[in-house]
Amino acid sequence: MKEIFERISIRKFEDKLVEHEKIEQILKAAMAAPSAGNQQPWEFYVVTNKEKIKQLSAISPYAACAENAPLVIVPCYRTEGLRWNETVLLDLSAATENILLEITSLGLGGVWLCAAPLEDRMTKAETVLEIPSALRAFALIAVGYPAESRPQQMRFDESRIHYLDCCMNAADTASFMPVSPSAQMTRISFTPRFLSSLRTPSQYFALSFSPICIPRTSL
Ligand SMILES: Cc1cc2nc3c(=O)[nH]c(=O)nc-3n(C[C@H](O)[C@H](O)[C@H](O)COP(=O)(O)O)c2cc1C
Repeated sequence: MKEIFERISIRKFEDKLVEHEKIEQILKAAMAAPSAGNQQPWEFYVVTNKEKIKQLSAISPYAACAENAPLVIVPCYRTEGLRWNETVLLDLSAATENILLEITSLGLGGVWLCAAPLEDRMTKAETVLEIPSALRAFALIAVGYPAESRPQQMRFDESRIHYLDCCMNAADTASFMPVSPSAQMTRISFTPRFLSSLRTPSQYFALSFSPICIPRTSL
């Protein structure tokens, strides 16, 4: 998906309003995010009032760039009636990333400005927005037409990837590691090469019941 590789944090904006249809599309993307148990704990404040934006930009020194944004979206989360309270920040993070990707795809730019989990920033944002006490402000997302550009940093680092190959054909037997069931289990991924080497349904069956585990110490 090209937006993933094009998205960068934009902190300078053109003096141009974001169209209502685009705002709605951004919020549709936000609410398409996954959440634990599909609990969708979010509410979104859409701020275009210049004075409110100025006040929001003062919740921390790191939010100052919001001052010149024509739009600030504040994803918030409910604190009541949730089944999975522990995951709300994760749910809101998924929605926030969806927003950043959607604004990129709409030719807009923006930046995630931290509020949660820092209590003072959250409280300041909530005070500016005068939101109900059962809601907490998660972050500010400054949005607008970009007035800066740069290529995305190249962050792919193969050394951060830990493949655990489990192969049964002769050429790869060295990486097949049956070990004591008492060892700590970790995830095993199967390479496309290995999977394509399976010939019969019974091989898949045997695989799914085989007592294979890889000790973390071998990583
Ligand atoms: C949880 C989180 C909090 C962030 N908070 C701020 C912030 O308060 N102010 C800011 O200018 N950028 C903030 N950012 C943006 C990061 O600085 C930025 O994503 C990072 O430098 C990588 O750059 P990129 O987004 O252009 O890839 C935040 C990003 C995340 C994910």
